[in-house]
Amino acid sequence: MNYRHAFHAGNHGDVLKHLALALILDALKRKPAPFGVLDTHAGRGLYDLTSNEAERSPEWTGGIGRLWGQAGLPAPLARLLVVVARFNPDGALRYYPGSPALVAEALREGDELAACELHPEEHSALKAALRSRQGVRIHARDGWEGLGALLPPQQKRGLVLIDPPYEAPGELELAGKALAAALRRFRHGLYLWWRPLKSESALEAVDAEIANLGAGEMLRADLWVDTPRLEGKLVGSSLLIVNPPFGLAEALSQCLPTLADLLAAGQSGWRVR
Ligand SMILES: C[S@@+](CC[C@H](N)C(=O)[O-])C[C@H]1O[C@@H](n2cnc3c(N)ncnc32)[C@H](O)[C@@H]1O
Repeated sequence: MNYRHAFHAGNHGDVLKHLALALILDALKRKPAPFGVLDTHAGRGLYDLTSNEAERSPEWTGGIGRLWGQAGLPAPLARLLVVVARFNPDGALRYYPGSPALVAEALREGDELAACELHPEEHSALKAALRSRQGVRIHARDGWEGLGALLPPQQKRGLVLIDPPYEAPGELELAGKALAAALRRFRHGLYLWWRPLKSESALEAVDAEIANLGAGEMLRADLWVDTPRLEGKLVGSSLLIVNPPFGLAEALSQCLPTLADLLAAGQSGWRVR
């Protein structure tokens, strides 16, 4: 396990994923009944953008850094920035919240987050970052195993975020199979699955497997900041959302043109379907 999200925190992929996450959390909170969230690959929760890793690989400057301080953003993006600003009370962008921090910030009484993080250092940092939060359980366990053991959530409604590092060959296909198995246990859950935008044929194949389960509605949202390529630096990402909440496709379609413009490093683009 060599992957460290600190090198990538706040980049274009995080912005896309966390925008969708924030919109899904808003949708879950439209109903008073409590919900559960399972974050299978949680990371350290809070990223210091002045850390050695972020300084060596300042990907955030092409992501959240380009949005910070922008006026006139579409409302869902402006709301995401308000949440990020809560982690930066002195007004300068220094801390970027990862998925478990964003979820913890959104929880109400009775809502719960189960976050799995296998790397010992990242796990300790996550525990420290979320130590006083109500409703948060942090597991030092394999996220794939967590998908089997921790679903369905006690609340019987909620979200599963699947965001592995894709450092092992075949992890895309493994994630697809794990999602298919999870859907059999928690059929009506919302699923948000982040994937690198590299091979269109590989993404189509895994998505077809999920579609063949008759799993329910599926929404795919892609954002690229340069022409996607198989090798080298990641320039785009793709979300698959199963059982998307009402209005999510419209909200993403409202924001992605702005993201493609502001985050462009070359031939940028977006797609929601
Ligand atoms: C892409 S990062 C997660 C970022 C986080 N979801 C966010 O949006 O802020 C992937 C994380 O998974 C962790 N990891 C790798 N393999 C794992 C496994 N099998 N189970 C749980 N965590 C794992 C890595 O240490 C890394 O912190």
